[in-house]
Amino acid sequence: MRADPLAFLSTELTALRQQGLLRPLRVLEGEQRATTIFDHHQVVNLSSNNYLGLTTHPRLRERALDAVRRLGVGTGSVRTIAGTMSLHVELEERLAAFKQTEAVVVFQSGFTANAGTVSSILGKDDIVVSDELNHASIIDGCRLSRATIHVFPHKDVDRARAILRALPASPRKLLITDGVFSMEGDLGPLPALCALAEEFGCIMMVDDAHASGVFGKNGRGTVDHFGMHGRVDIQVGTLSKAIGVLGGYVAGNRALIDFLHQRARPFLFSTSHPPAVAAACLAAIDVLLEEPEIVERLWDNTRFFKAGLNAQGFDTGASESPITPVIVGDGALAMQLSDGLFAEGVFAQGIAFPTVARDRARVRTIVTATHTRDELQFALDAFARVGRRLGLI
Ligand SMILES: Cc1ncc(COP(=O)(O)O)c(C=O)c1O
Repeated sequence: MRADPLAFLSTELTALRQQGLLRPLRVLEGEQRATTIFDHHQVVNLSSNNYLGLTTHPRLRERALDAVRRLGVGTGSVRTIAGTMSLHVELEERLAAFKQTEAVVVFQSGFTANAGTVSSILGKDDIVVSDELNHASIIDGCRLSRATIHVFPHKDVDRARAILRALPASPRKLLITDGVFSMEGDLGPLPALCALAEEFGCIMMVDDAHASGVFGKNGRGTVDHFGMHGRVDIQVGTLSKAIGVLGGYVAGNRALIDFLHQRARPFLFSTSHPPAVAAACLAAIDVLLEEPEIVERLWDNTRFFKAGLNAQGFDTGASESPITPVIVGDGALAMQLSDGLFAEGVFAQGIAFPTVARDRARVRTIVTATHTRDELQFALDAFARVGRRLGLI
């Protein structure tokens, strides 16, 4: 019998297990809700990106079911061949109006929106200037583009300026940041970066995955929040988090979107969303416009929960959003905190290297609009008990 050529994978998994860093997949048995059942345990769920509770909103459910009944379950093709349905076009028009841009193209996910866009608009003679904590999909897009990548320290606009100043004037340059950083919960310094992009003639791009549905009027994102309309050339949003469904989109001018139709590889080479997904996303836009009180509830809950964690003495970093990390440093300790919370009926995922720096491991919490005060207080009490037991507070 031949030796297993994949044996090295088992060795790596054993090492992770020994370091206390192996993460089993928690299995959700039922709906994605504020209190739900994972791995046979009822828990208050602080781990989803379901900021507004739209995964189970009746209007989205109904529109998805209606689309299945009328249009079936799949599209059978990529967008550029036979897979563009009128629902996709309607969704893109609604999103463009919502984001106040000329046009939008929807991708299968936020990940493919970022990676597909960066890799298609840049080539090997171009330059990217990127925040060190930008999302993996941006990093992968940059690598795929073969452009030269310059990374600036997190939110450090002066260092970004120094990098740009030292670069030759000619090549095409992309300045790129997350709107909300997914592990820190802080905001990209958009006004300063937009000014920098204008000063140095860069394309300005913002990944608003965690800001869509959360920041700005009716959840229009950080560009709206900071009043930067017209100053960001490429906005990426996700339909998978606050919007509650699945997908990503790019908003910008007509030429950008027309170009992505021709060149973005996930758009060209991967099948489009089923009708139910597009229909549910359309219903989500209606909800954002017609039920803005949901976003207000999200922010009320965010303020309450953050204040509770801070009063207990946890290190919650520099978060400005519903993402509140509880930073503990050591990876194994983060997993112990997460496991201890789970045993107490609270699901907050531990996050360690390579998702965050080795000495910045954490438990990440995300509250939603649908958590009740009792659920949040229950979670805070559990944090206090487990945090004290582990000597964190
Ligand atoms: C900042 C950021 N950008 C993009 C994505 C990808 O979005 P999606 O889950 O829709 O692929 C994520 C999701 O983890 C994210 O946190």
